[in-house]
Amino acid sequence: MSPDPLTPYGNKPMVTPIVNAVNYEYASFEVLRQITDGEIDGYTYHRDDNPTVRNVEKIIARMEGGEDCIVCTSGMAACSLVYFTYLSAGDHIILFHDIYGAHYKVSLILERMGVEITWLDADDSSTIGEHIKPNTRMIFVESPSNPLCKVVDIRATRAAADTAGAMVVVDNTFATPYHQLPLTLGADLVVHSATKALGGHNDLMAGAIIGSKEHYDKLWFTRQAIGTTHDAYSASLLERGLKTFELRAERMAVNGMAAARFLATSPKVSRLSYPGLPEHPGHAVAAKQMKNGFGGMLSFDVGGSQEDAKAFINALDVIYHAVSLGATETLICIPYLTTMLYLPPERRTTFGVNLNTVRLSMGIEPTERLIADLDRALAAI
Ligand SMILES: Cc1ncc(COP(=O)(O)O)c(C=O)c1O
Repeated sequence: MSPDPLTPYGNKPMVTPIVNAVNYEYASFEVLRQITDGEIDGYTYHRDDNPTVRNVEKIIARMEGGEDCIVCTSGMAACSLVYFTYLSAGDHIILFHDIYGAHYKVSLILERMGVEITWLDADDSSTIGEHIKPNTRMIFVESPSNPLCKVVDIRATRAAADTAGAMVVVDNTFATPYHQLPLTLGADLVVHSATKALGGHNDLMAGAIIGSKEHYDKLWFTRQAIGTTHDAYSASLLERGLKTFELRAERMAVNGMAAARFLATSPKVSRLSYPGLPEHPGHAVAAKQMKNGFGGMLSFDVGGSQEDAKAFINALDVIYHAVSLGATETLICIPYLTTMLYLPPERRTTFGVNLNTVRLSMGIEPTERLIADLDRALAAI
């Protein structure tokens, strides 16, 4: 066998090479048979698998404590892969109002396909048991939730799901594996928008699903069928982002707690939600299921109107007015106008996304610089 051109003398590159090949020359019919029979791992066609992507999957699986991981084109692709892999007509799923807004759009497709949906307020998550039906197949949870940072008890959700043999899926994008490991709390699957803190630099889109090898095989089948395989270049950027992930997550949590403590003192801020504050209704549960702090996500209402919230954001100098989260830069947005835009207006406000609610995603800048920016902007309204 000729030597590997990348490692002719055994020295390995410190960075996983970007394999842009979509197609691979078969070494032999025997190798083709071994790959298609699943006897060996090998690469034949990009929609099936790619070595750069596979490497990042193994890193994320380890971070979440799972056996394996599927990486795909975006966080919503990951969530949709989960829905399409496990739900059938006649199944029932429990979703929370306070999850990322695009789920609402996907839920319309699921309903059209015959899936029955119960929407719950995350504040009422202790009543999940009352909504379980014999055909409940899945409970999908975000904790902390997007955008209101509500906390759902993952262990209690597992116990409720067990009464119907339902799956528990946890979107861990807000918490990140630095603060929360849902598989250890009873989740069957963890999903991520890896576009956010895992990537961390606003330069790639990716989704990840982590779980057992058995789940990996099922999800792989769907991804291969519909073709949402991640691209090698973005996977390489994701691998690079993961190298600094823990450092960034640590700093974001420090900044999150500092911002929450500061904002709590302002008369212009109301409904402040940060799970690290003892007065947060979910603090006790968060303290039990999270670790290393409480993350970098906050939400709060500014002044008394959307004009106040806009004036506040316009007065910020260091913090960026932008959607997305988990980046090196601190980002702020009005969810009513952005992440929840897909929902009918009355649906946004009924579960607590007010016209003047803002979502703050802490970055890794020096804490004092961010607090000074918040202080200056609050003074301007
Ligand atoms: C909690 C959460 N899950 C999923 C998604 C979807 O991720 P993506 O934008 O990568 O599709 C987002 C996007 O903001 C999110 O905040």
